[in-house]
Amino acid sequence: MNPLNHVAIIMDGNGRWGLKYKKSRNEGHKEGLITIEKIIKETIKQKIKYLTLYAFSTENWNRPKKEINYLFNLLESFLINRISEFNNQNIKLKVIGTKNFTPKFNKLLILVEKKTLKNTKLQINLALNYGSKSELTIAFKNLQKNKEKISEKNITKYLYTKNIPDPDLLIRTGSENRLSNFLLWQSAYTELFFSKKYWPDFKDEDLCEAIYDFQNRDRRFGRVKD
Ligand code: FPP
Repeated sequence: MNPLNHVAIIMDGNGRWGLKYKKSRNEGHKEGLITIEKIIKETIKQKIKYLTLYAFSTENWNRPKKEINYLFNLLESFLINRISEFNNQNIKLKVIGTKNFTPKFNKLLILVEKKTLKNTKLQINLALNYGSKSELTIAFKNLQKNKEKISEKNITKYLYTKNIPDPDLLIRTGSENRLSNFLLWQSAYTELFFSKKYWPDFKDEDLCEAIYDFQNRDRRFGRVKD
C-alpha cells in the first residue's frame, strides 16, 4: 500500500454546479466552501499531513469582478471564522502564491499563517493568486539575483512549496482532465485522479475512493520493478 502524506486538489465545477442548481455561479462557490470543510475533516481522519487546495489561480483574475469579489469575501469570512478552530484542531495554514491583494487582506493572510504556525496535525496550503509558471519564473529570478547555480535543489528552495513534500495524489473534480498551471514542478511523480463530480458534490466518500485507488497503484518513480 502506498503511503499518503500529501493530497492536492483542484476544486473545479463550482460555477457549473451553481448555475445548474441555483442559477448563480457564486452559489456554487458558497457550496464549495462546505465541501472544503468536509474534506478537511476527512483528511484529518485519514491521517494525511498536507492538503493543498487550489482556491484562486493567477488566471482567475480574468473572471468578472463581481465573482472575484464574492470569492474573496467568502475567503475572508472563512479565515476570520475559522482561525480559532484551526488552532483547536491543530491545523497550520500556509498560503502559496503571491500575496499582492489589498493591504487588509494581505494582513489577514499573514496573521492566520502566524497564528497557526506551530500547529502540527495537518498543514493546509491554500493556493491563492498561484500559478506554476509564475512560481518558477520568480524562482529563476531569485537564482539569477543571488548568482546561484541552476540545480533542482536550488530551484526547489525558491518555490512557495519549499519544505513541503511533493503531493502524492492530485485530485481534480469537475470532469476536466488537465492541471491548469497547478504544481507543475511538484507533481512530476504525483498520481492523478480525475473525478466527474462538481466540487460541491464531492463527498468524503469520494475522497476515500480516490485514496483507495491511489493506494493500489504501482508507483515506480521511473524505476523497474524488483
Ligand atoms: C473552480 O470552479 C473553483 C474556483 C476557481 C474557486 C474555488 C473556491 C472555493 C471552493 C470556495 C471558496 C474557497 C475558499 C478557500 C474560501 P469554477 O468556478 O472554475 O467552476 P466551473 O469550472 O464550473 O466554472
